[in-house]
Amino acid sequence: MPFDIRAIEWVDNAVTLLDQSRLPLAEVNLRVTTVAQMIDAINRLAVRGAPSLGVVGAYGVVIALDEAARENWSPSRLNQELDALRDARPTAVNLAWGVNQVRELIPQGREAALALAQKIALEDFNSGAAMGNNGADWLIAKLGDKKFNLLTHCNTGSLATTGTGTALGVIKELHSRGNVNEVFVDETRPLLQGSRLTAWELGKCQIPYRIQPDGAAAMAILGGKVDAALIGADRIAKNGDSTNKIGSLGVALACHIAGIPFLVVAPESTVDRSMADGSGTHIEIRADREITHIGDLQVAPDGARTFNPAFDVTPAKFVSVVVTELQTYDIAGGKSL
Ligand code: MRU
Repeated sequence: MPFDIRAIEWVDNAVTLLDQSRLPLAEVNLRVTTVAQMIDAINRLAVRGAPSLGVVGAYGVVIALDEAARENWSPSRLNQELDALRDARPTAVNLAWGVNQVRELIPQGREAALALAQKIALEDFNSGAAMGNNGADWLIAKLGDKKFNLLTHCNTGSLATTGTGTALGVIKELHSRGNVNEVFVDETRPLLQGSRLTAWELGKCQIPYRIQPDGAAAMAILGGKVDAALIGADRIAKNGDSTNKIGSLGVALACHIAGIPFLVVAPESTVDRSMADGSGTHIEIRADREITHIGDLQVAPDGARTFNPAFDVTPAKFVSVVVTELQTYDIAGGKSL
């Protein structure tokens, strides 16, 4: 890959984050040394994407241990802070997973906790290349070795992971093999992860793209402009029901009707085998202001009520495959995870 994006790094006992709320207009780093700063960064999507949330959850435990030592926190205060970090966003399984894994090591001391957080970050980095290969192999085997027009939703690349990405990692791998004609990027209302982040990342990687409003996705798919759609996930239940950014369900329905592949690409850490299906998934509902305003500009009447779920659940019957770093699960063929 010609361009190397590092959205999360552990530097000098702090987490350095590329502030995604400022992209693409400004490339600004944040230095996070407290739990409150980390929760704020998570809530306002300065750091976002399920695998990234797992990594900052893991590092966040080390930040909490350092803060506890500096500020003389009681054990119960430390526990409260770790609970708040774990619950900062509810839908992506990775955040609680990252916090819980490192939290279990606290009795072994700060260095053991840091070593595990760094291992989680490294494993996430390595899983990107494996997902990229698995997804690219599957799509070429399915559709033939040709140039594809692909559709993606939200951002699933190096900004959402510590490596090349999940769905966007597959797209980058296909591009490196000469198999990408163009990527249709859903803008991904309301916070525009597609037009702000995915377009920025594809541009840096010199992959041809065009941005479309989310409402154009069904027309592009049913109009034959797209060969396959690839998305990431925040939580995948055992039966393959896949939770991802709001709007993913509409893309899946259109792909189902058009008869084209709909791939969900995610690391094994996003698979929640404690859930038989996606019906119990906690969907984050976000602020009215994300809908009633664009930046500081009000675009809806005073007092307008909103429905602003951050995610939707695509039933397994509309998913072709789930691609992880370990294998490609044939969900349409009746396999579970
Ligand atoms: O609200 P966000 O930007 O955190 O939502 C992110 C997504 O829905 C991603 O598609 C998902 O986390 C997979 S990231 C590899």
